[in-house]
Amino acid sequence: MKNIHKRFGGVVALRGVDFTVGDNEVIGLIGDNGAGKSTLQKILSGLYPPTEGEIFVKGEKIDPNNYSVRQAHEMGIETVFQEKALGQKQALWRNIFLGRQPTTKFGYLDVEEAKSETDRIMKQFLGFTGEGVSPDSTVSTLSGGERQGIAIGRAMYFEADLIILDEPTNALSVKEIGKVLDFIREVKRQGKSCVYISHTIAHIYEVSDRFVILDKGKVADRREKGELTEQELIDELTHHATRPETEERSP
Ligand SMILES: Nc1ncnc2c1ncn2[C@@H]1O[C@H](COP(=O)(O)OP(=O)(O)OP(=O)(O)O)[C@@H](O)[C@H]1O
Ligand SMILES: [Mg+2]
Repeated sequence: MKNIHKRFGGVVALRGVDFTVGDNEVIGLIGDNGAGKSTLQKILSGLYPPTEGEIFVKGEKIDPNNYSVRQAHEMGIETVFQEKALGQKQALWRNIFLGRQPTTKFGYLDVEEAKSETDRIMKQFLGFTGEGVSPDSTVSTLSGGERQGIAIGRAMYFEADLIILDEPTNALSVKEIGKVLDFIREVKRQGKSCVYISHTIAHIYEVSDRFVILDKGKVADRREKGELTEQELIDELTHHATRPETEERSP
């Protein structure tokens, strides 16, 4: 992503961001509330067009007028959104196969196949034991972490090259967080890439190869994991978060 700007009416969410994700790389995208993390992520995943700037996927320049979440899926980019990751009232199997159901040879949706594949995804990728949750369960009955799990399972099943994870703001249980971190390690092990957005620096630090710090719509810093300790990363973030506004305005 090159020189990405995004304005929402009078609100400037991003002001000239350069952002690159390499092959088999986990990037921790961090910054205070409102820094622009989700906005950057949504542009990369095809949800919003940038107001200005260029996007390249695997070397190919993207036409912003012809880029969408579906197009991003086709190019191997899957996103677990912070909000509304899934259709709340829909069954899990529908969520997994949203927009790309397995079809029978007559072109109809093969419901049985979609359900049995969902069952497999839940057990194989997500470690669901089958207790209480089935492919027919609705999303609204799942916990935050389980919802993230389903969205990640979907990304893994469709073999995305890049998985973007925008952690939900509502608290996840320790066990659920453990699962999310396991997924990210698995993504790395499988040779794929991940952008992980979280406010919990300990988690970001643990699984990321590199950190990108956003501050008020700009990249404030880029660091390799080997360059700094977790405490140094926390100190740097605190420094950006507490810096007065006026300092930002100087050219
Ligand atoms: N759809 C929108 N319409 C108007 N303003 C928006 C929209 N989305 C984001 N913004 C604004 O853009 C700025 C960046 O928001 P964004 O959601 O990208 O922040 P964030 O870094 O993800 O924050 P958080 O850590 O709280 O999730 C904020 O000022 C926000 O109010
Ligand atoms: Mg956000």
